[in-house]
Amino acid sequence: MNSIRLDRFLAGEGAGSRAEVKKMIRSGRVRVNGVTAASGDMKTDPASDEITVDGKPVRMTEVPTLMLNKPAGVVSATQDVHFRTVVDLIDEPWADKLFPVGRLDRDTEGLLLLTSDGRMSHELLSPKKHVAKIYFAVVSGCPDQETVRLFRDGLDIGEKRRTLPAGLLFLGNTAAAFPAETWDEDKAGSSPVIWDMKEAAAAVSEADIRRCGGNECCVLISITEGKFHQIKRMFLAAGREVHFLKRIAIGGLYLDPALPPGTYRALTREELAKLRGSRTIA
Ligand code: URA
Repeated sequence: MNSIRLDRFLAGEGAGSRAEVKKMIRSGRVRVNGVTAASGDMKTDPASDEITVDGKPVRMTEVPTLMLNKPAGVVSATQDVHFRTVVDLIDEPWADKLFPVGRLDRDTEGLLLLTSDGRMSHELLSPKKHVAKIYFAVVSGCPDQETVRLFRDGLDIGEKRRTLPAGLLFLGNTAAAFPAETWDEDKAGSSPVIWDMKEAAAAVSEADIRRCGGNECCVLISITEGKFHQIKRMFLAAGREVHFLKRIAIGGLYLDPALPPGTYRALTREELAKLRGSRTIA
């Protein structure tokens, strides 16, 4: 289990404000495993430590990790002065313990995980872990094999280093290009970086495909890092614009098609296990 500062844990469980909790600790009212706590910055593991205030146990609230279908217009943050945040969409008493795992732009939709588990968040976001994220996008024009190659070899998007190998899969520009069962991998601009193209393509709804207008194309992209506006900047570097962006998968976990935008559900035990053992792409 994760360890956490004692004062942070107690404040998070509603024992008082951070300042009030510090005062309680200083006046000897807080014990950890029967020993009076010396200071608020001591590390504790609330899953196994017995923490009491005035002799009454304070237990950790179990907070599930959630899968949210993020709608456009909300920001991936816990607080914001101008816009609604993804946490504002969570109607649960423990919502304020959650934070988003990484960020999607305000206009980006789709799979966003919300958790209170810092370790899991780090495992999924660390560039060293190479956890793949798959996006569906509507872009201007149709990328060709050269664009697939550029994505695979890495693009200069104005950072110190080129982007890591990314997968790009062309889905077509009409609903007629679907259903995904009729997939033709030879024509699709296959990429080794999208590990299971059929699985990813099947996760794209027909409604999303219908977003593609005449001069646009629907594509799948898989990346293993998360630079600011990364996909939009990659397409710009390849001479295209992103008109719509939706994340459909993280580390082998797909957005539940039964979740309309703005709704969420807890991850199942199997889904959590899948995330913990996320497939990585070296
Ligand atoms: N890349 C982007 O450009 N935007 C997102 O929201 C996510 C990835």
